[in-house]
Amino acid sequence: MAALAPLDVAMGDINVQNIGQLRTLNEHTFPVRYADKFYDEIPTLPEGLAKFAYCGGFAVGNCCARLEPFRSRADEKKKLYIMTIGVLHAYRRRGVGRQLLTQLLEGARKRGDVRVVYMHVQTGNDAARDFYAQFGFTEVGTIKGYYKRIQPDSCYVLAKAIDAADDPAQLLVAEVSGLEAA
Ligand SMILES: CC(C)(COP(=O)(O)OP(=O)(O)OC[C@H]1O[C@@H](n2cnc3c(N)ncnc32)[C@H](O)[C@@H]1OP(=O)(O)O)[C@@H](O)C(=O)NCCC(=O)NCCS
Repeated sequence: MAALAPLDVAMGDINVQNIGQLRTLNEHTFPVRYADKFYDEIPTLPEGLAKFAYCGGFAVGNCCARLEPFRSRADEKKKLYIMTIGVLHAYRRRGVGRQLLTQLLEGARKRGDVRVVYMHVQTGNDAARDFYAQFGFTEVGTIKGYYKRIQPDSCYVLAKAIDAADDPAQLLVAEVSGLEAA
């Protein structure tokens, strides 16, 4: 079967007014249910780090990320942690995720204060792993028992340095709790 054409996507900010829409979207996108704490944090994120992807006026995907200081190194630059990136099932493989991640990475480069981008991906989530690989993310390690309510309960930590000369594994080795190096 021929691949479906990429969809036209418009990006929009997630804020306190439309946070309920994010909750509904996530419930239909992810196998885990996010706690209220997660939704309380989203409107406090710096501009550009929480976005909806709209197709035909409907929110079909989102990407949310937070900036974190380095714990183990004196570094003015930060880590950008992708909390969620997800697209409704019916809209997948149409380039929506690509556009969400591209705008996030371009924004991170423009900010100038991000050294590395990383996230947790459930072991066995090959779609997400292949998706991130397209953008140059590599596995820096795994964490056993990361998830409390789903199986498998382990995850990969995938990462990409903004400066290609940096090694993401080295940047994160002492930063991510429970990380067993790849
Ligand atoms: C991962 C996810 C966000 C990808 O979104 P998407 O809109 O389907 O991705 P795109 O269409 O932009 O794909 C871009 C490229 O990534 C790769 N890719 C995406 N999904 C893939 C899959 N299921 N299998 C293999 N490669 C895949 C492909 O190379 C694809 O390009 P192509 O379609 O031209 O071959 C989506 O599958 C999803 O929401 N999954 C559930 C939530 C999740 O696991 N999120 C990640 C952890 S937070």
